[in-house]
Amino acid sequence: MNILILGSGGREHTFAYKIAQSNRCEKLFVAPGNAGTASIATNVDLKVTDFGAVKKCVVENNIEMVIVGPEDPLVHGIADYFAETSELQNVMLIGPSKRGALLEGSKQRAKEFMMQHNIPTAAYESFTVESLEAGKAFLENLNPPYVLKADGLAAGKGVLILKDLSEAKQELENMLTHSKFGEASSKVVIEEFLDGIELSVFVLTDGKNYKILPTAKDYKRIGEGDTGLNTGGMGAISPVPFADGVLMKKIEDRIVKPTVRGLSEEKIDYKGFVFIGLIKVDNEPYVIEYNVRMGDPETEVVLPRIKTDLVDLLEATYRQNLGNFNIEIDGRAATTVMLVSGGYPDAYEKGKEISGLENVEGSIVFHAGTKLENDKILTNGGRVLAITSLDDDFRKALKKSYQNIEKLSFDRMQYRRDIGFDL
Ligand code: AMP
Ligand code: GLY
Repeated sequence: MNILILGSGGREHTFAYKIAQSNRCEKLFVAPGNAGTASIATNVDLKVTDFGAVKKCVVENNIEMVIVGPEDPLVHGIADYFAETSELQNVMLIGPSKRGALLEGSKQRAKEFMMQHNIPTAAYESFTVESLEAGKAFLENLNPPYVLKADGLAAGKGVLILKDLSEAKQELENMLTHSKFGEASSKVVIEEFLDGIELSVFVLTDGKNYKILPTAKDYKRIGEGDTGLNTGGMGAISPVPFADGVLMKKIEDRIVKPTVRGLSEEKIDYKGFVFIGLIKVDNEPYVIEYNVRMGDPETEVVLPRIKTDLVDLLEATYRQNLGNFNIEIDGRAATTVMLVSGGYPDAYEKGKEISGLENVEGSIVFHAGTKLENDKILTNGGRVLAITSLDDDFRKALKKSYQNIEKLSFDRMQYRRDIGFDL
């Protein structure tokens, strides 16, 4: 069958890499894609939230399966658009409906869902500009640090963690009254701070059944030792060494099962990935957030460990056959290290030539922000390349990634040398 992947990052290159290996895939398209996807698929230049352009691409190329990488088109209702459009009704779209995507699109909705279905999470209240004073009073009754979350999508920047009460009150006001995060912060969730270690669990669900995919841990801060600004993610490791059988059973029983049951009870169409951000506090798991897609760079370590044919797995998801499906996981560890442009996550330059790609051995290079121009591969984003390696344990895998990184270069290339430092 012909398959289309929507998106342009390392996550989408990784999906393309796995799908290109399946003998069920005839022609593979990535829209808009990058220089990496161009080497194994046909890139289509379109905007992923332009559903009319997506439809044209699907119809013209006889596409039978569409995998949605980022959250934006999902939150804007691409799955509903496919279901309502006669030419697209039989296309296997992997991604939740708009109602399902609200689990990521609204922090308040996610919290209500967790309360409704008894899923462990931090205590919270939400506030709008009308209840600003009540919000400040609520902060006075909490212990620091204070966690403020813009309700809507804010490109990963909408969460503030503040030590000082007066600063927290000021930021609440900035969010509600001065639209600090635009429309996204017209509502703010204030929640209890949870002190623990984070991990992510990935679930594939067809709305009734589920499969738990490999766990991963990402490194979000730009600086070594988890310092400096938040980024999209500077590296990742899978599996998470401390996610042992006991913890995973708690996560499955208390979080994964009630989440899938909740979706089904609320009659939400959900055929896709649930990325559950968790924090372990004294051996007990709590949900920090839901995302309705795979993570980036987590995908770059999770998918390479799935041995099962990805097209078969996704088709079973679409046909609600996951209950009978067996999924085989590679027992080795996977790591990825992100190479980023100097200045990222603040301003950075694009268009720098990348050299040394042909010398990489024993690692997989996933392109994130790259483009092909006059036969040269140029940087085209903050996050540029993800260097993934597999080995018996994560330290050996990391060594391979770092050895290969020595062979790669572009002007003002940066990366963290301490991925996995806390494990
Ligand atoms: P989110 O966008 O919801 O994933 O939040 C971004 C980051 O803020 C998370 O990855 C955590 O590191 C941190 N965080 C969010 N909520 C809490 C909380 N209730 N307690 C402690 N840290 C949190
Ligand atoms: N790496 C975090 C995310 O994809 O949201």
